[in-house]
Amino acid sequence: MIQIQNLTKKFGNFTAVDDLNLQVESGELFGFLGPNGAGKTTTVKIISGIMSPTSGGVYVDGVSVARDPVLAKSRIAYIPDEPFVYPHLTGWEFLRLMGDLYSVDVDAQLKEIPALIETFELKEVADELLQSYSHGMKQKLLIASVLLRKPRVILFDEPTVGLDPKSIKKFKDLIAEQTRKGVSVFMCTHILDMAEKLCNRVGIIYRGKLAACGTTEEIKKHAGLDGNLEDIFLKITADE
Ligand SMILES: Nc1ncnc2c1ncn2[C@@H]1O[C@H](COP(=O)(O)OP(=O)(O)OP(=O)(O)O)[C@@H](O)[C@H]1O
Ligand SMILES: [Mg+2]
Repeated sequence: MIQIQNLTKKFGNFTAVDDLNLQVESGELFGFLGPNGAGKTTTVKIISGIMSPTSGGVYVDGVSVARDPVLAKSRIAYIPDEPFVYPHLTGWEFLRLMGDLYSVDVDAQLKEIPALIETFELKEVADELLQSYSHGMKQKLLIASVLLRKPRVILFDEPTVGLDPKSIKKFKDLIAEQTRKGVSVFMCTHILDMAEKLCNRVGIIYRGKLAACGTTEEIKKHAGLDGNLEDIFLKITADE
């Protein structure tokens, strides 16, 4: 569903992503791990089409993000690490706007938006302006807007930052439900415990290069390492 081919991104002389090759299947939850500054956010920005690569490319469901950006973007939902919402809209208006922008049938919107507001416990603030929302509330609203759209690929950049424990649990359940429906989820995270428990496969990016990729078991075997994902991560990303 997501194919990343020889992807390189340079900022001046600095190579942030270095010849990255990766594939994520339909219905797979892929965890993208790596230390601060490793190149995770740069990679998801390129997959989403909001940043151009220096070389190489990304295909989503066979569609080139660079050559056919509108079609590719119609299949992708991206939730950045800093949730951006229009401050002068209410929660309800924001969801209606996203529904209209992504051509969700109005009847479906009117049925699904109240259910999503209920699910994410945003009922009390649904008619408040988004400028008054907390970080976690904005994050939940963005996740709700993504579910309304029914994309084939969801890109999350550190999705659980700012969410309370109950919302994290709900998030995990909803992601499992999405992957069961065949949606591919690409998730950047620093929470190794969550990645080990939830992800079908993980990739560890280190200084722009893919240092390891596979199931935790496969990575352990390949690297000849023992322990949990945290132990492996710390060994793979240790400075020589
Ligand atoms: N617009 C930019 N201009 C110059 N350098 C950039 C730009 N964006 C990112 N970088 C650099 O590219 C590298 C990778 O950054 P990126 O944001 O992808 O890291 P990350 O893996 O998401 O890190 P974190 O875990 O801290 O979110 C960093 O060294 C960063 O300083
Ligand atoms: Mg980042």
